[in-house]
Amino acid sequence: MNLDEVYQELILDHYKRPRCKGVLLSPDRKVDLNNPLCGDQISLTLKFTGETISEIAFDGHGCSISQATASIMAELLRGKTKDDARRLSGLFRGMIKSQIEGDALNDLGDALALEGVKRHSARIKCALLAWDCIDRGLAEGDGAASLRDEMPR
Ligand code: FES
Repeated sequence: MNLDEVYQELILDHYKRPRCKGVLLSPDRKVDLNNPLCGDQISLTLKFTGETISEIAFDGHGCSISQATASIMAELLRGKTKDDARRLSGLFRGMIKSQIEGDALNDLGDALALEGVKRHSARIKCALLAWDCIDRGLAEGDGAASLRDEMPR
């Protein structure tokens, strides 16, 4: 099995057996985003302890890339600080936009399995739906406990 096949298996596994799936009760932040092109949707709920993401869960429906990415992302970010999560989000975007490559991406862990998406421009929005949710969930100063929106085109 080559690395591409291992990554395909990993994505499929997260799609079929999503981690951190569900909705947190009394979350500190809730973000709902959908991809207007296909209607796929992710709802992310977050609880913080100080600066740490102590609990994270996602719910939603959609293509295997969008849902597997949400599962991988949630597992990766659980227990991380907000600053770390922002850094990892930047790394993921850099990877998907072919701006960052190689060892610099190692902290992405299982999310490296999604690197191949960068070669399929139509799927990039699928892979960014969950990360757009976390970016909004971590955004300071908007004062809203619950955000519902469409992802930017
Ligand atoms: Fe809708 Fe992937 S096809 S997010």
